[in-house]
Amino acid sequence: MASKFFLLALMAMSASRALASDPGQLQDFCVADRTSQVFVNGFACKDPKTAVVEDFFFSGLHMAGNTSNKQGSAVTAVNVAHIDGLNTLGISLVRVDYAPNGQNPPHIHPRATEILTVLEGSLYVGFVTSNLENKLFAKFLNKGDVFVFPQGLIHFQFNLGTNKAVAIAALSSKNPGVITVNNAVFGSKPSISDDILAKAFQVDKNIVDNIQAQF
Ligand SMILES: *[C@@H]1O[C@H](CO)[C@@H](O)[C@H](O)[C@H]1NC(C)=O
Repeated sequence: MASKFFLLALMAMSASRALASDPGQLQDFCVADRTSQVFVNGFACKDPKTAVVEDFFFSGLHMAGNTSNKQGSAVTAVNVAHIDGLNTLGISLVRVDYAPNGQNPPHIHPRATEILTVLEGSLYVGFVTSNLENKLFAKFLNKGDVFVFPQGLIHFQFNLGTNKAVAIAALSSKNPGVITVNNAVFGSKPSISDDILAKAFQVDKNIVDNIQAQF
């Protein structure tokens, strides 16, 4: 009797673990069918017999992104939008280029944990835990160093070096999503009322208007 209960508890635990990331697939692959009119969580599969090797292929990650922008960084993503065969597989990749003093500003991946490795240069990286602690975990990374950003937490990377930096990161979703905090809070369309943001940040409305004007 006790062992039966233990088995049930174990099954319940493993079921909830399976729901902690992208759902597990029930077949070898499910190449995204872009023409399907069926709306499912992800993309419908095309007939597996029509799958071709190109469905699992992407080329171009050797190319540096253009970092001539206000943040001085460029993210080149390789997810299900770029490789149809990633549909249902729960994984994707990004290349991030950083100009000297460039940063990948504070952002959140709502659906993925990220594991990043520095290929070139050095970075100062960090993430902040949820309420109530809001504790910052931050570290200087050099070439070859690896760092993990847990799912759903605000994180950033900053290039303190005088040379450019390059990182590759894997994410535990075919479609991790990105919420860049500054864009979402101060650059939403339409804007969040400056009354609300002034109260939220405990600053004058003029300051909020100034920040909103940057977007
Ligand atoms: C990089 O982006 C800047 C700003 O948009 C643009 O002026 C420049 O031509 C781009 N450089 C390359 C090599 O594409």
